[in-house]
Amino acid sequence: MGLRANDGIPRGPYRDAPTNARVPTALDRVWRRLGEGPYGRRVSIGLGRDVTVPFATPEARFPVLLRDCRPDDLAALFPRGCDATAERERADVLWRFGKVESGEQPSRCFVAVDARTDRPCHIQWLTEAGCGARIRRAAGFPALEADEAMLENAYTPVGCRGLGVMTAAVGLIADLAASLGKRRVVAFIDEDNVPSLRGAERAGLSRWSVRTRTRYGFGVVRISRFRRLPPIPGRREPGHPEGGFH
Ligand SMILES: CC(C)(COP(=O)(O)OP(=O)(O)OC[C@H]1O[C@@H](n2cnc3c(N)ncnc32)[C@H](O)[C@@H]1OP(=O)(O)O)[C@@H](O)C(=O)NCCC(=O)NCCS
Repeated sequence: MGLRANDGIPRGPYRDAPTNARVPTALDRVWRRLGEGPYGRRVSIGLGRDVTVPFATPEARFPVLLRDCRPDDLAALFPRGCDATAERERADVLWRFGKVESGEQPSRCFVAVDARTDRPCHIQWLTEAGCGARIRRAAGFPALEADEAMLENAYTPVGCRGLGVMTAAVGLIADLAASLGKRRVVAFIDEDNVPSLRGAERAGLSRWSVRTRTRYGFGVVRISRFRRLPPIPGRREPGHPEGGFH
């Protein structure tokens, strides 16, 4: 069944978004596949938070507001001449806008802005249940319940890092998810991404699973496995039903 972009969440700015990302050519795809190598393994930590339970997220070093991403935000987040990581992130943002427009990915893109200047200082996505099977398999997404949403692709420009912006943004997006009727937000973060793990945990998410994505034959075969971490005594567990992942 086809999906409309943003089913269940208010429409974002996608109609006006810069969907002029270069469509990958066959050669691009071949290079990407070759870059994946004959074998690869990526381990991420699954974190979750029950957003119906209030949580006092630490504030950033300057006042931050959350709003939908606008097309003109990208120039501030990824300025001309930015580093390779930022370039990759920008390309990913454009690719995602395309997927949202085509209805394959029910995601909403947010920016956190410096409330004093309206300058964007962080970008992050909130994805709902209903991703296309192809994307879900390729990205190793969990099967989300209707009242769950997944935080994805947090990015803070280098000049704004370490000021608590991601932490504040995760808190604000979690609050917004609650106001949209969600019960739980989840995130999967690479096990070695210390700033991102710390930011998510500071915003009240707790570790509860490990996802291992293995790929064989230049990414032709991809397998994602989810393992639940043992509960920590005395800690409120996110409460995801067993078997919710596939
Ligand atoms: C991950 C990222 C979004 C964090 O953004 P940020 O706005 O700098 O995060 P915060 O300032 O809220 O910091 C979060 C925590 O990480 C810590 N931290 C920040 N940079 C760090 C670093 N280089 N090494 C270790 N810890 C770091 C902060 O001290 C803070 O912990 P604390 O509150 O206990 O002090 C940013 O580093 C980034 O954009 N990285 C590149 C893209 C990326 O990896 N995205 C994540 C994809 S899931």
